[in-house]
Amino acid sequence: MTPDVLAAAVAAVPREHYTDHPVHGRPPQSTAQSAIERDILRAAAGRDLAGARILEIGTGTGYTGALLAELTGPAGTVVSIDIDGQLVERARALHDERGCPVQVVCGDGHDGAPDLGPFDLIVGWCSPTSIPAAWVKQVVPGGIVSTPVYIAPVARAVGHLCATVTRQGTLADLQLGAAVYVDMASVVNDTLGAPLFYVDAHNGQSHISVAWRDRDDDPAAALALLGHPGHVEEYLLGGDGPAVAAAWRDARAYLAARDHALGASSLTTWGSGEPDWDAGVGFSSGRNAAVLTDSGQLRANDSGSPALAKLRDYLQAWEEAGRPGLEQLTVALEPGDSGWQVRAALPGQ
Ligand SMILES: C[S@@+](CC[C@H](N)C(=O)[O-])C[C@H]1O[C@@H](n2cnc3c(N)ncnc32)[C@H](O)[C@@H]1O
Repeated sequence: MTPDVLAAAVAAVPREHYTDHPVHGRPPQSTAQSAIERDILRAAAGRDLAGARILEIGTGTGYTGALLAELTGPAGTVVSIDIDGQLVERARALHDERGCPVQVVCGDGHDGAPDLGPFDLIVGWCSPTSIPAAWVKQVVPGGIVSTPVYIAPVARAVGHLCATVTRQGTLADLQLGAAVYVDMASVVNDTLGAPLFYVDAHNGQSHISVAWRDRDDDPAAALALLGHPGHVEEYLLGGDGPAVAAAWRDARAYLAARDHALGASSLTTWGSGEPDWDAGVGFSSGRNAAVLTDSGQLRANDSGSPALAKLRDYLQAWEEAGRPGLEQLTVALEPGDSGWQVRAALPGQ
């Protein structure tokens, strides 16, 4: 599919009908237009979607389902699942008003839609901690799974994965990209924006997530230190607001990949709503903690902190590698009970 074909579909589907309807209102669960277009192009992986059978995970407003239906045309099918029954009812009503043939079902997208497949493509709009085995089973060989997914076992460490299902029922041609999506819940999530997975300690509006959680340590102590850091300095991520955040996500992915390569399992992510929304990635251990924040600050318990030294060492490796982003990283797939864990990995790993 070319960007022109997508642009024609975007022009044909009235976004506001779904995102800001005079009767059915405006739900918060809508994905940014630029992210939608980027990820539909990724998911199509250069193929024409006309006639395709698509399963969408995360109906939200219904807009992306309508766009996919426009792209598949009358010869294709779109099934869309959301865990939130109210959103499902709303999307059904909005599709009916336009005569749009998306089949919207209520359920946990982790299970896919076993009775409504098989599918040529699964498109996800919320982040699971691993790729569910059910999805891979429900996609035909040569079909695509395209979804945000966790790339490290710490809160918010998400990337976008596009992969081809093989005849053997595994995933190949794995390609990572940048992504910012809500977590995939097991029940309806009323706290949109709050991390659902891997939170090891929280305190008011702040939380910390530590990959070393199975070892004997104290994440609450590190959380308290990051709230009142003894050392703060600027770190030049470069560019304006969105570019700073994008560079920070690249740094986060690289830190995760390097940590994976070293077998260290020592990554930490941190988030705080006090006083402003801030996210951080780095390392911590008991009375040592250091993170690089998405506003370009290094925060640490003190300037001599071993956690800060380690963070500087990882960031120097990122700089020396030319600041690679998710697109330049590779993927290590780790099989688990219910699917595949996706781990950002360094090229050649
Ligand atoms: C960012 S919104 C999707 C927005 C949608 N793409 C649109 O255009 O409006 C993510 C959606 O995923 C849904 N979701 C979260 N966990 C889910 C799960 N386990 N199964 C199905 N849907 C889920 C949420 O209810 C939410 O509607």
